[in-house]
Amino acid sequence: MYKLVSFISLALIAQRASAASPVWGQCGGIGWTGETTCVSGTTCVYQNDWYSQCLPSTTTAPTTTQPGTTTAPPPTSTGSGLDGKFKGRGKKFWGSAADPNTLNIAANAAILRSDFGQVTPENSMKWDATESSRGSFNFGNSDTLVNWAVSNGKLIRGHTLVWHSQLPSWVSSIGDRATLTSVIQNHIANVAGRYRGKLYAWDVVNECLNENGSLRSSVFFNVLGESFVTIAFQAARAADPNAKLYINDYNLDSNNAKVQGMVSLVKRIGTSLIDGIGTQMHLGAGGAGGAQAALSALASAGVKEVAITELDIAGASSNDYVTVVNACLAVPACIGITSWGVSDANSWRSGSTPLLFDSSYRPKPAYNAVIAAL
Ligand SMILES: *[C@@H]1O[C@H](CO)[C@@H](O)[C@H](O)[C@H]1NC(C)=O
Repeated sequence: MYKLVSFISLALIAQRASAASPVWGQCGGIGWTGETTCVSGTTCVYQNDWYSQCLPSTTTAPTTTQPGTTTAPPPTSTGSGLDGKFKGRGKKFWGSAADPNTLNIAANAAILRSDFGQVTPENSMKWDATESSRGSFNFGNSDTLVNWAVSNGKLIRGHTLVWHSQLPSWVSSIGDRATLTSVIQNHIANVAGRYRGKLYAWDVVNECLNENGSLRSSVFFNVLGESFVTIAFQAARAADPNAKLYINDYNLDSNNAKVQGMVSLVKRIGTSLIDGIGTQMHLGAGGAGGAQAALSALASAGVKEVAITELDIAGASSNDYVTVVNACLAVPACIGITSWGVSDANSWRSGSTPLLFDSSYRPKPAYNAVIAAL
């Protein structure tokens, strides 16, 4: 959902001033106009036609490594925190939205370390942050987030590659199929390709449905029809073959028309391309009652996994939070929950105090209730 971070551009200017591409940086590929040399100790390695990357000189190219060997080290959150407790119940993670603006707050980072096993960039991987002008890629904040996650042993959910919002106008003004197709493919090859092997999952397509379950009007749907979904997932699979590829949306909170539209869409596109469905779950008070039915219905599409990807609940009542937790526990395909931030202080809807930690980074009653339920 929408939240602008104003200092992104400053960080990006600093990043782009460097003379040779940094470790993990891009150094070639179709359409690439940036640096083709790599900093000392790294080598420019071909990944695909769209993307070559500066890798540490001793590293084997990802194309020749065994699947899974380039992923992050095991998560390190303690067994008594949210993530540890949730894993104890057979789930893969309890994560949180993060980005450099919240990683830089010591109290926030300490809670991420102790209680969360996965981070999702709130803004730094969106199209307006990564490719604000065509073919010119900026990864200052997203690199910071990924490096933090890798060095702290956290999984990463990439968010998001194709979304009608926080989309630069140079994309939304494209009117022909060939141009838009190659722009989508180039964007995904660069953004997903940059973090190849490091991310647990990608939200490949975000918020593409209307409330009645039909495809939303957007430049992607209006120019390409439903085929934009396949184009995006194929590009993501090529760019990062081991990442779980998700389609993600909001108001998938009960077994409603939008959930049914999602299930139909995923079946049409195919579960060999779409690995998972994410339900954001930005809930209102008392709005958790349909969560289990929604998760079960989404799983019935035949996807490998479903996940709650942006959880916050207005008022943060203990009962609502425990209802959501029990819903995920009851549905085997539900592999994890991501809170859309740690503290109410930094929530995109802080006025509704929807998170598990208060604006002073203290655990709220809902946090204690969740821990007790786990
Ligand atoms: C579904 O919703 C969209 C957007 O509100 C609308 O344009 C479309 O006509 C609706 N379709 C049906 C079948 O009601």
